[in-house]
Amino acid sequence: MITVIGSLNMDLISIVDRYPKLGETIIGKEFHQNFGGKGANQAVAAARLGSSVNMIGRVGEDSFGTQYLSHLKNECINIDNVEPVTQTSTGISSITITEGDNLIVVVPGANYELTPVDIDACKEQIESSNVILLQLEIPMETVARVLEIASNKGITTILNPAPYQEFPSEWWDMITYLTPNEHEAEMLMNSPSFCEKYKEKLIITKGKQGIAYHKNGKDIFIKAPEVQVEDTTGAGDTFNGALSCFLDKGYEFHDACYHAAFAASLSVTKFGAQGGMPSLQELKDFTG
Ligand code: RIB
Repeated sequence: MITVIGSLNMDLISIVDRYPKLGETIIGKEFHQNFGGKGANQAVAAARLGSSVNMIGRVGEDSFGTQYLSHLKNECINIDNVEPVTQTSTGISSITITEGDNLIVVVPGANYELTPVDIDACKEQIESSNVILLQLEIPMETVARVLEIASNKGITTILNPAPYQEFPSEWWDMITYLTPNEHEAEMLMNSPSFCEKYKEKLIITKGKQGIAYHKNGKDIFIKAPEVQVEDTTGAGDTFNGALSCFLDKGYEFHDACYHAAFAASLSVTKFGAQGGMPSLQELKDFTG
């Protein structure tokens, strides 16, 4: 079983021909409203591939929150610990897409209401998981509390360090794997808390090139298959959800990364963060 502790955002997406300059107004081509948020995206990616998934998070008591809860139920995700809060609205992301690339501004709203005390109230659910999956769209002290509980029980923890923020040095020993993209990896390796022994914890997502990690002194590279790109939003989330799924299923580390990289490639062939996340059968048909 996988538990994802993280954000749930409504993605408000504008498709444009080009990005506006600072202070400029431009006319967009299309608008879409899709389910997003790194936490929920990763939960959906794992659930579509057949994992049993718990989500822990917060939404607002508003229509985005209500829509999100029923969406997660339809995706067969346990939402016993996704509670609506009254003091603020559901998180949103303003996403601008042009030529398959994106710019994202996240307004966390209810996501920032998930506290360490809330985590203590879900301790049993966390402790009964095989894999814990985290990102950085909820408060840092909440992430820290989850890591303490999980690492005390020896549970595999995966931190997707996005959006990038510096974290305390004691986190390194509580995290099994970190999954930065190339920019985040550079910042992590330049951070004061980084030392060489942590290199083997990094699984670096390199967009259309694939995945890189370091094992027994060697750099290992998994090439991503070539696909027709429709929208790259959520590719990293698909990788994280799929990686958790395959580690939970007991795949050997390299195989888990390989299958997760293929799932991420498939995800960019359709529109929306969750739109292209494959089922297990779709992934099998793709990997052959
Ligand atoms: O990783 C993509 C996600 O980042 C989007 O769905 C958006 O909500 C932001 O959280």
